[in-house]
Amino acid sequence: MTTEPVLRPAAEQQYAAELAALAAADDRPRPPRWRMSPQAVVTYVLGGTLADGTVITPKYVGDRRLVEVAVGTLVTDRALLLVGVPGTAKSWLSEHIAAAVSGNSMLVVQGTAGTGEDQVRYGWNYARLIAEGPSEAAVVASPVMTGMREGAVVRVEELTRMPAEVQDSFITILSEKTLPIPELGIQVQAVPGFTVIATANDRDRGVNQMSSALARRFNTVVLPPPATEDDEVEIVSARAAQLGRALQLPAEPPALEEVRRVVRIFRELRNGSTVDGRTQLKKPSGSLSTAEAISVVTSGMALAGHFGSGTITADELASGLLGAVVKDRVSDTAAWQEYLEAVVKERAEWRDLYRACQDLVG
Ligand SMILES: Nc1ncnc2c1ncn2[C@@H]1O[C@H](COP(=O)(O)OP(=O)(O)OP(=O)(O)O)[C@@H](O)[C@H]1O
Ligand SMILES: [Mg+2]
Repeated sequence: MTTEPVLRPAAEQQYAAELAALAAADDRPRPPRWRMSPQAVVTYVLGGTLADGTVITPKYVGDRRLVEVAVGTLVTDRALLLVGVPGTAKSWLSEHIAAAVSGNSMLVVQGTAGTGEDQVRYGWNYARLIAEGPSEAAVVASPVMTGMREGAVVRVEELTRMPAEVQDSFITILSEKTLPIPELGIQVQAVPGFTVIATANDRDRGVNQMSSALARRFNTVVLPPPATEDDEVEIVSARAAQLGRALQLPAEPPALEEVRRVVRIFRELRNGSTVDGRTQLKKPSGSLSTAEAISVVTSGMALAGHFGSGTITADELASGLLGAVVKDRVSDTAAWQEYLEAVVKERAEWRDLYRACQDLVG
């Protein structure tokens, strides 16, 4: 039997070799059921070179201390909450930490307005329940229950999108570390190694504020947008190249200069002023996150590979930029036009981009 490559392998599959090398080289103490020491987890996340020469690629670009605090939280009895504006790698970091700590990043509860308590606690296999009555075999474990039994990291995505009463079912789980099943008169007790990494977006509309009782069970780490343009260029070009390979796009990874243009436009519009600070700009309504910059560049690669010369030019970036910036047709179109005229047009080396964007706005 041949196995098809999957579209998006989990971190522990994609980086299996790095994780194995880190665990093998690691002689520091490991917390119960951890695959490696907290130090090695930080190296896995931020990258480095091992004594035997194995290169660990950086996954997260950012402050070391912040990653240490995040990983350090997991050895305490508190859970970790990653918050920040959209596209600041909250989910990305949570996946990689779970992969390094537990070797499994797939115990995930996705928070939505429709998330029910059974997705957090447990459900029933109704055919079995009717045939045999309530029994342990009829219980369908949630990822949380599985993580408690196995002593693994459980990821909770978009915690604040869940209804408040469902969020609150984490209070007992996190403070008592038990999950009662009243129908059977038993409870599942968590074994060491169990913890939760939750993410929450502080920009979303329609969020359900966390109760203070629940908030107290978490250590909160705020993930900031990339500090400098260079950092952001590094992130976007590395991720776009990786995605291009994974999607098998027949295009070259974009030149650093093209990525830099996209990142500069995003940063200027996000901050509402040009890099030299001379021109004030209208801020568009969208979030213009790093994640969106990555998708502008990746779409550009798709266009260049299939309909263009194989190399990204201004023509391939223009439509992606327009789509990313203009979320509200009326107000954002005005902001984009103003930016094109006041900034893009004035930069001699950006003439090609100005022309390509003008053609689209038409
Ligand atoms: N500092 C960073 N280091 C590495 N990658 C980053 C960084 N910031 C953003 N990214 C990239 O941005 C992409 C989006 O990140 P992710 O989906 O984790 O964001 P998020 O914070 O969960 O956003 P949302 O609030 O929309 O869920 C990922 O591909 C990630 O690699
Ligand atoms: Mg996310």
